[in-house]
This record gives sequence, structure tokens and C-alpha cells, in this order.
Amino acid sequence: MDKKLIVNARKPEGELGSKLLERMNESHEKLAQWGISHLNIENNDIILDIGCGGGVNVKRFNEMVPNGKVYGLDYSEVSVEKSTKLNESAIKEGKVEIVQGSVSELPFENDTFNIVAGFETIYFWSNLIKDLKEVKRVLKPEGMIFICNEAVGEDYVLEKMKEEIVLLNMKIYSEEELRLSFFDAGFIDFFTFRKEKTDWISAIARKK
Ligand SMILES: C[S@@+](CC[C@H](N)C(=O)[O-])C[C@H]1O[C@@H](n2cnc3c(N)ncnc32)[C@H](O)[C@@H]1O
Repeated sequence: MDKKLIVNARKPEGELGSKLLERMNESHEKLAQWGISHLNIENNDIILDIGCGGGVNVKRFNEMVPNGKVYGLDYSEVSVEKSTKLNESAIKEGKVEIVQGSVSELPFENDTFNIVAGFETIYFWSNLIKDLKEVKRVLKPEGMIFICNEAVGEDYVLEKMKEEIVLLNMKIYSEEELRLSFFDAGFIDFFTFRKEKTDWISAIARKK
């Protein structure tokens, strides 16, 4: 993929950002389906998707919670535009809301969500433990955090992705780094899943 396009993954902007988001909606499809298969979703759950990008996971979650509600949040204006467009009819029905904001300062009350999800986004969060604590604040007691990444921080992956890591100023977490960060943020029942023959990882944990 060309460098100008890749750079946009951190915070999509303008025409290129818009193009990249369309591409990610497709290229992350299998990863997202695999990740979500590990989640127990109730039909009345209230779900937040952080770093919602092109909005395809907001749409997917909305279809899974006929009696619930889904929020998408992203700090990029163009991600908010794209997600809003893709979920237009559900927004009109009051089933979906898309908001612009940062994971570091979530514009939601304490104890709001059953599930908070983040696909391909924690690489870019400015302070993982602090941001995880902010996620914990908006989760209901017993609520689940779920993250899903196509890259895990193992030596061969870090070597393979060294250019992207610099270009995007991203941090790729190992299973152990995730476990320790979730623990430090106060989550319990931490679990990871790996898909064989890929570098994919998803992690789930619970608020007490
Ligand atoms: C690689 S894209 C992934 C988009 C989508 N989740 C997917 O899987 O296709 C990363 C997204 O996370 C958003 N993002 C990164 N850091 C963020 C932060 N600190 N707060 C909110 N959104 C953030 C970016 O703007 C971008 O839309």
C-alpha cells in the first residue's frame, strides 16, 4: 500500500483518509468477524465502538442488538462522517449515535456500556493504561472490554512491520503487555485469543 495512504490510518483526514476508511471496512472484515465471534452479545446491550473508522462494526453491532443501542466514537472528523453515512438509517431510528471524541476523554457518563470495543485502534492510543481506565469508567459493572488487532507484538511481526511502526508512530502490543496493561487498569478475567497462521489477537476483560 502506498505510504501516503498508510499514514492516514492513525487519524484519517481528507480524501485519502476517506479512501482508506472504505478500504479498511473491507480489508478488516474477516478479522472483525473472527474477533466478534468471541463476544457474548445480548440483544439489549449498549455498545461503544472506539476508533470506529468507516463504521462497519457499528453497523454489525447494531444488527446484533435489536433492543439495544450502539455508539461509535472516533477523533477523526472524516471517520465520524463515514460512520455516520454508513449508519444513516439506524441513526434516524435512534439506534445508533456517532460522536467525535478521544478515548482519553470519553463524552459519556460513568457505568453506561455493557461492551466497549476497539478494532485496530489501540496501537495509536496515547497512554494505554490511562485510556483503559477511562474505558473502565464508562463500562457498567460486569461490562466487557474487547480489543481486536491484526498485529501482535512478537519479534518477527515487529521486524516485518518496522516501516509502518515508524511511519504511523504506532505501538504493537504483545500478549503479555496487554495482560499487564489490563491488569494495571483494574480489569479482571483477562483472556486472549489467537488465530492460527495469522498475527491476529483479540483480548477480552471485565470490569468488577
Ligand atoms: C486503523 S483505523 C481502524 C478503524 C476501524 N476500527 C476498523 O477496524 O476498520 C484506527 C481508527 O482509530 C481512530 N483513533 C486512533 N486513536 C484514537 C483515539 N485516541 N481516540 C479516538 N479514536 C482514535 C482513528 O481515527 C481511526 O479511525
